[in-house]
Amino acid sequence: MIYSRIAGTGRYLPERVLTNADLEKMVDTSDEWIRTRTGVERRHIAADEQSTSDLCLEAARQAFDAAGVTKDDVDLIVVGTTTPDLLFPNIGTLIQEKLDIHGCPAFSVEAACTGFLYALSTADKFVRAGEAKCALVVGAEILSKIVDWKDRTTCVLFGDGAGAVILQPSEEQGIISTHLGADGQYKDLLYYPYGASKELHKTHLPDAKIMMKGNEVFKVAVKTLGGVAEEALRKNNIDKGALDWLVPHQANLRIIQATAKRLGLPMEKVILTVQDHGNTSAASVPLAFDVAVRDGRIQRGQLVLMEAFGGGFTWGSALLRY
Ligand code: COA
Repeated sequence: MIYSRIAGTGRYLPERVLTNADLEKMVDTSDEWIRTRTGVERRHIAADEQSTSDLCLEAARQAFDAAGVTKDDVDLIVVGTTTPDLLFPNIGTLIQEKLDIHGCPAFSVEAACTGFLYALSTADKFVRAGEAKCALVVGAEILSKIVDWKDRTTCVLFGDGAGAVILQPSEEQGIISTHLGADGQYKDLLYYPYGASKELHKTHLPDAKIMMKGNEVFKVAVKTLGGVAEEALRKNNIDKGALDWLVPHQANLRIIQATAKRLGLPMEKVILTVQDHGNTSAASVPLAFDVAVRDGRIQRGQLVLMEAFGGGFTWGSALLRY
């Protein structure tokens, strides 16, 4: 049996750091409110001239080095993002051009904060089917450019960044299974109101900002994340106690704590970056994974559960041996 295995990881965070103290000067909020309600202390914000594909480049290069491959080995590019540079060409091809890679399939998957897990699940299937031998999978986002910086209910939550992994075929266990889901009935709880075929013609966009009913999102997120995490364990007959690490979507510390509790996992086994990165949407899981691989917490052979939840709603989990 052929598995796909994470051969290397990388990340990029923009230089500029916006702290809760900085936000206190911008909107009617406080460091205390943000920390106690969300766990966020600071977040990285992309420069005006940076686009999402720029963030992907450094993350990809780090992942190449960590995996011991070069850009010439890459035969598939899949990017999870909700903030692509352009409507088209897709961001996968823009990264391809910037990395001087030619010919391989390159595309993006749009699933809001679950984007990376959708991308990982897709690339995993290419690798296991023998159609890719070196897949670059990226989760990247510049949410700061679609956030309303006057809206305290959303602007304190989000941040920018990119995380990448290289997937290669392996006879040893790598990605054991992925589990994706979605339910469009919740589309009005978390969305951005403009796109290509609806209302884009408007020149005046007073409501061009992330729209969110935070309380309602919170409740569905807690319930759904616990469910999709348990699904991954149940389908593989793996006991909760066997997990070495949970790498959750970094939206809110309280949501993460609730999922860990449902899994019976102590917080020492949960990778947390929400305090430093905020919610980076599709970038959050690969960023957190890379942080924990590089600081030596996640070791080769360990059992890791990733999970995410986002607008749509969409959700997903991946159980893997690193
Ligand atoms: N600073 C200070 N006060 C704020 C604030 C801020 N940044 N944002 C909202 N408030 C106020 C509200 O106006 C409200 O005031 P009121 O009681 O006078 O009306 C009060 O705080 C409570 O607001 P509420 O929305 O009920 O707070 P909450 O405990 O639900 O926390 C979120 C708000 C957004 C942190 C929380 O709902 C959440 O994290 N939801 C999930 C969001 C998410 O994860 N989205 C992405 C999914 S991928």
